[in-house]
Formats: sequence, C-alpha cells, structure tokens
Amino acid sequence: METVVSGIRPTGNLHLGNYFGAVKSFLQMQNEYKCLFFIADWHSLTTRPKPENIVNSAHTILSEYLACGIDPEKATIYIQSDVKEVLELYLFLNMNAYLGEMERCTTFKEKARKQPNNVNAGLLTYPTLMAADILIHKAVKVPVGKDQEQNMEMARKFANRFNTIYGVDFFPIPQSFSLSDKAVKIPGLDGSGKMGKSEGNCIYLMDDAETIRKKVMKAVTDSGPTTPNSEKPEVIQNLFTLMEVVSSKETYNYFDEKWNDCSIRYGDLKKQLASDIAAFNQPIRERILQYAADTDYLNKVAKEGAEKARESAQATIKEVRKIIGFK
Ligand code: TRP
Repeated sequence: METVVSGIRPTGNLHLGNYFGAVKSFLQMQNEYKCLFFIADWHSLTTRPKPENIVNSAHTILSEYLACGIDPEKATIYIQSDVKEVLELYLFLNMNAYLGEMERCTTFKEKARKQPNNVNAGLLTYPTLMAADILIHKAVKVPVGKDQEQNMEMARKFANRFNTIYGVDFFPIPQSFSLSDKAVKIPGLDGSGKMGKSEGNCIYLMDDAETIRKKVMKAVTDSGPTTPNSEKPEVIQNLFTLMEVVSSKETYNYFDEKWNDCSIRYGDLKKQLASDIAAFNQPIRERILQYAADTDYLNKVAKEGAEKARESAQATIKEVRKIIGFK
C-alpha cells in the first residue's frame, strides 16, 4: 500500500474551511492508504512560540482532528518532536542543501520579510525539515495545499539529489496530492473569497451557536435580486455555498427558489444558515471538548502514534546511515 504523509502546523483551531478541505481529504485517505499524520511542532519553532504553548497547541490540534474522525486505528497520528530520527535525516539532508537555493525559496523570502529581526537558520532550512518529515517514511503521496508546492519541489530535489550522490535508488520521489483541487472551497463571510485564519472571517468548529449566529448575521449581502433567475453575486453565492455543505437539500432549494423569484429575505436565510452550521458543529464541538479534557487519552494516542512512526523512521534511518558510510 502506498504511504501518505502530511504535517499539520499547530496554528490554532480548525475552521469550516479546514474541515471541508484538509480534514475531509484525510478522512478519505485514512481508508485508502497507509497514512501518517503528524503535528509539526518543530516547524512552529521558527516563529519562537511561548514554551507553555507548545504542548497545548499540539493537544488542541490532536483533539480537533480526533473529533473530526481521524482514527488512530487506521492512521498513524504522532507529534513530530516524538520522532527524533527525523532530526538525523534533517542533518544529512542539510549537508546537500545549498545556501543559494534555500535563500531563493519564496516561502523563505516571505517569512524573512515578515520577521526581519528573526531570520533564523530554521527558517532557511524549513524545506529540508519538511523533506525529512516526508522521506523518513519514504512517502509517495503528500496531501498539501497549493502554498506548499515549492516546499514539495524542494523535497523532490533533495530526494533525487541523495539518490544521485550515493548512486542509489533509495528514496521514492514524493508527489503532492493537491488538496485544493479536490476540496470544496469554503468562502468567508466577508465576501473576500476564501475562509482563512489570516482573513479573520472564520467559523471555527469550536464556535457555539450564539457565536455562529453573530458571525453569520454580520455576513455581507447586497440589496437583493431585482430580475428573476439572475446570477448570484459573489457575496450571496458564498452564503449558498455554505448552505450547500451544512443544510439539507430542501432548505437549499427553498432559498434558491426564493432567490429566483426575488422574494428572498436575507435575514431568514442567515437565521437558517446559522442554525444549520450550529447543528453541524455541535457534535464535533462536543467531541473536541471531551478529547481536550482527557489528557491521558491524548497522551496515549500520541505515544502509540510515535511508536508506530518510529518503527518506520528507524528502518529508513538505518539504511540511510549505511548508504552515507556510517557502518
Ligand atoms: N509546511 C506545511 C504547512 O505549512 C506543514 C508540514 C510540515 C508538512 N512538514 C510537512 C506538510 C510534511 C506535508 C508534509 O502546512
């Protein structure tokens, strides 16, 4: 069975866009591939998080993915920092990574621009750490968003380079499995297109009914349709797109007809949408709270995940040492 690896940056709570994007793909993939999903806590050090936040953020992410249905019986779920073998491969890969190519990465340049007072070597070598994450399990498929394409290109380059330098056919060349192509694109509520944390337009899985109601009622609309069966402007289409994923077909059709005969009342649509989102979130939200309160269980999942991940990582690193000449 083909091996799939993906890393999750621990940057706060999951929103609906994440759910219908990455999370849904992971849910499907865990049934079809040998999946390893990990929380990239080492990567998060490039922005110097507070010590007390490291474990908390990992537990938050873990609770949320488990609540969504990522199943530790099907997929291996672990925390990156529990698998030290990754560091050794990171070191080896860094020996064949050139300063020029690392500096030219747009992700590096962008991060350097964002934090000019902390342009650290971890930031520069972010792509080799990511390559190590992938290659340590000899993964062939990597589900990532479009923003990770250059990092994936680097991972392929490092895999190929290692194979060439040592004259081996050891690392398979990992392919990106673009999430954006398959996923429904969930819009934000501000008419800005995509739901995203940095856009500040998110509905989080952890949001309760009242929070959701407030957010949805504030969503941007227009002055209403004037000609029957007209095309929906983007802000209105956005609300319908959300309805499509959380509401029943009947509800969607009801409001679609109201749009078409120009009798739609956005207040009613928003009320319905808010209540359907709340109903969608509620069971997930309850499970998140349950998992988050059960530190023993989270630790057990992380420990068992790390054991499985280390088994696969050790097998690879043993071979790599031999190839490099450490007999
Ligand atoms: N860089 C990825 C992101 O920002 C996270 C990540 C780290 C990752 N290591 C990985 C993704 C390995 C896929 C495979 O989202």
